Amino acid sequence: MDRINSYCDAKTWDGELPPPRDIIIENIASSDGLLCLLTDKIDAQLMDKGPKLKVISNCAVGFDNIDIDAATKRGIVVGNTPGVLTETTADFAFALMMAAARRVAEGDRNVRAGKWKTWGPMILLGQDVYGSTLGIIGMGRIGAAVARRAKGFGMKIMYYDVIRQPQTEKELGLEYVEIGKVLAESDFITLHTNLSPQTHHLIGPEQFKRMKRNCILINTSRGPIVDNMALYEALRDGTIAYAALDVTEPEPIPIDHPLLTLDNIVIAPHIASASVATRTKMGLMAADNLIAGLKGEMLPNPVNPEVLGNRS
Ligand code: DGY
Repeated sequence: MDRINSYCDAKTWDGELPPPRDIIIENIASSDGLLCLLTDKIDAQLMDKGPKLKVISNCAVGFDNIDIDAATKRGIVVGNTPGVLTETTADFAFALMMAAARRVAEGDRNVRAGKWKTWGPMILLGQDVYGSTLGIIGMGRIGAAVARRAKGFGMKIMYYDVIRQPQTEKELGLEYVEIGKVLAESDFITLHTNLSPQTHHLIGPEQFKRMKRNCILINTSRGPIVDNMALYEALRDGTIAYAALDVTEPEPIPIDHPLLTLDNIVIAPHIASASVATRTKMGLMAADNLIAGLKGEMLPNPVNPEVLGNRS
């Protein structure tokens, strides 16, 4: 905020919950720029309320909360925060994988509920991570960072992406396979795709049926990539063993959601990038994108750079 305030007059929303839409509309009317979070849905209708709007800076790498085509059509440049959160998010995907495999959250719940009565050879048996097979769906920066960690655990790694990544394959010794093989042969499947109409409910009833019964699904990307009701049924019926989610559909997950009745799931509140260092870098990057856009300069990290290229 210091960086932004030193360049322009900024109004901030300090509420714990996202600003109501009418508040954004009211304020966007006279704004040249908007810095928003992934919890703010910025669509064409809202953009039309901001006739002066030149830049939208999202404090996140994902930008499915913003209608990019609508922004481009209106000459509004959009910025995001790629790169700085890669390792932190990969750390968390691994943390979730370990937590699910070794039933850490369940163990903690049992201890707090006074259920730790003794050491027992059959208590809370989990699965080994080392030496098992990891399937990665989406081999961008974060997928590759997870693969690097998995190598240290001696995992066999296969991946699927709509775009094959030969350089990463070579560098990390990965096997590129069709999505069906990832589903059928992985002990762990971790999702690292962006959310688009093509990836909405990419993992649904048919996909769960193809997974191994010991499979553990990890999602740190976007909630709607997984069909939550299908996941509930797969976990309840033992079609797969466990799930570990940092993201859900919707967010927050309603407290009476059936997934929360299951023991074989661990759910975190969308915190994969939440380290002090990374959130600081994301904030500064978002500020720099905003300021560049206000100046009419190329953003350090533009999503639709063609907007600025087309301006004369
Ligand atoms: C993002 O940046 O898209 C994450 O979901 C939050 O860091």
